[in-house]
Amino acid sequence: MPTDEEVVAGQAIYNRFVLATYDIYVLGFSNRLIWRCPKRHMLDNYRRNTGNRHLDLGPGTAYLLDHCRFPTASPELTLVDLNPTVLRMSASRLARYRPATVRADLLRPLPFDDTTLPPGSYDSVGLNFVLHCLPGNWAEKGAALDNAVAALRPGGRFFGSTILSSGVKVTGAARRLMAVYNSKGIFHNTDDDLAGLRWQLDTRFTDIQVTVRGNVALFEATKPESGATLATG
Ligand SMILES: C[S@@+](CC[C@H](N)C(=O)[O-])C[C@H]1O[C@@H](n2cnc3c(N)ncnc32)[C@H](O)[C@@H]1O
Repeated sequence: MPTDEEVVAGQAIYNRFVLATYDIYVLGFSNRLIWRCPKRHMLDNYRRNTGNRHLDLGPGTAYLLDHCRFPTASPELTLVDLNPTVLRMSASRLARYRPATVRADLLRPLPFDDTTLPPGSYDSVGLNFVLHCLPGNWAEKGAALDNAVAALRPGGRFFGSTILSSGVKVTGAARRLMAVYNSKGIFHNTDDDLAGLRWQLDTRFTDIQVTVRGNVALFEATKPESGATLATG
């Protein structure tokens, strides 16, 4: 089981200073040159899948939500993160949509309620660049996917991306940077492989598409209508 310390380390790095450089350093430089997945692919994933009532898990700077297109001019947004600075900054960037914010650990059951975080009601849930920050093996990281399933309406879309360390081609530069981030507790992805990600998606969703770019896996999937049969883990 991940320790509380590991969970805290996976989100503590996102202070005001890191968030101020995140769009340029992570989404610009690292995405293109280290992970070899230019951010336009993540933005395309958002543009394809965000519904009018959208829940974003681990929004960071909210760059993608700020630049994606929603089906209507007034989407209903909820942002969930463990880090209060992230929630403040992302909500401020998206103030035009008046998003709701919830502080919670994605590895624990979310605090669903009928007003701020209604279960089974979201058209889409985004989980972008978060799984590699979460401690634990795939079965333990799967708690975040369970939260997405609980939040989505039947037929709702789940999507995002994560940085993998095996089952994909990893360059020397990517391996070295991941080693540094894992040693500092910023990443927890030393055992994250492509097959494990597919397994976690297969046991919860239908209509699954996983696209690998560099050592990033972009995923999109649908919550089954009630009664549908899924692969068992
Ligand atoms: C790398 S950032 C991703 C930001 C954004 N989704 C993007 O793609 O640009 C990871 C985000 O996940 C959040 N996070 C990490 N671990 C978490 C946890 N256990 N529970 C909730 N949020 C977490 C961080 O605070 C941060 O906002």
